[in-house]
Amino acid sequence: MSQKRTLEESELPSSKKTKDSGEPYVIELRSDTLTKPTEEMRRAMFEAELGDDVYGEDPTVNSLQEKAAAMFGKEAALLVPSGTMGNLICLMVHGNSRGSEALVGDQSHIVIYEQGGISQIAGIHSRQVTNRSDGTLDLDELESKIRKDHSDPHYPITRVVCLENTHNVMGGRVIHPEYMEKVHQLAVKYKFKIHIDGARILNAAAALNLPPSELLKYADSASACLSKGLANPIGSIILGSKEFITQALWMRKLLGGGMRQAGIIAAPGIIALEKMSKRLHVDHENARRFAEKLAELQPLGINIDISRVDSNMVMFSLLPGKGTREKFLELLSTPMEGPGGNYEVRMFDSGKDEVRAVFHYQVTADDVDRAIQKIETVLQTL
Ligand SMILES: Cc1ncc(COP(=O)(O)O)c(C=O)c1O
Repeated sequence: MSQKRTLEESELPSSKKTKDSGEPYVIELRSDTLTKPTEEMRRAMFEAELGDDVYGEDPTVNSLQEKAAAMFGKEAALLVPSGTMGNLICLMVHGNSRGSEALVGDQSHIVIYEQGGISQIAGIHSRQVTNRSDGTLDLDELESKIRKDHSDPHYPITRVVCLENTHNVMGGRVIHPEYMEKVHQLAVKYKFKIHIDGARILNAAAALNLPPSELLKYADSASACLSKGLANPIGSIILGSKEFITQALWMRKLLGGGMRQAGIIAAPGIIALEKMSKRLHVDHENARRFAEKLAELQPLGINIDISRVDSNMVMFSLLPGKGTREKFLELLSTPMEGPGGNYEVRMFDSGKDEVRAVFHYQVTADDVDRAIQKIETVLQTL
């Protein structure tokens, strides 16, 4: 693809090509991590006022951090390169003494997709609690796994409990403040901290129609991605008290996450927070409509529970006799005869019997119909 972009091209709702280019029309549903920055974001990068952020002198980074802290109702915020580093830094601060343990969901991103960084790098023992299909942890199991006897040297000490909102592996499930309050009661009783992996916390806020600060009310720390559905190319924000963020700054430098003229990513990050977050409900509407239309394809072999669609993700499976997910996904992205046959629809094999489709700003309401058309055609060939 040419590096030169015109305004018209880059304002297209997706990276897909038009009919004229002769290339396939791509509907990218694998993940919201595939979003590209908008033209306004690219312009903001170009125009950003810069300084050395390791010296604390990048005005655009400072502005982003102040805005993020205010928006999430925390004393301070820190820009970090990724969600993975954000989670790691937060846990390094909470578990900054030998013998620390973190309670984490067995289906959490921290456990499955972060290479065990909290043990590998932070020296924290992780103990897993069953994730329920709604993304929460079973409270009885959670309570039973908290280390209560701090006088017995056999045991580590539970320093932190991690929750994920929205929950990725469970299909974008949203955790409600009422549940958070119950975990908070345990935190007060047993003196541990609460960390939220809020890579998509603004999706949760949009789904519940609540200010983001309500969702972090009971959290001692959180990480929130500026990329993904918010379309920033790079970056996450971590949030907490001033004291927490001061310690986090030390950990960020240790990990090599101190960035110099980081205003380049903070400038579009401000647009991500202030503008892109306000349109997430559109992605949720598209996800729901897609799920409802998929449910109508049940006679052709689709198995879906639409009550599981809380935000921008849809999980579904194929009924027995419809072949493998691999074949289904391959056909979806292959040109074929029949209605919608020319659309290249990309989805993600969740590896757990299910296929995942994720909705984001590069997917329009018309794309929902196009994707359904292609799915129907593929199902008829299977
Ligand atoms: C729930 C969750 N947490 C953390 C991350 C990690 O973010 P990053 O890819 O920026 O490291 C992701 C990425 O998809 C995620 O879904």
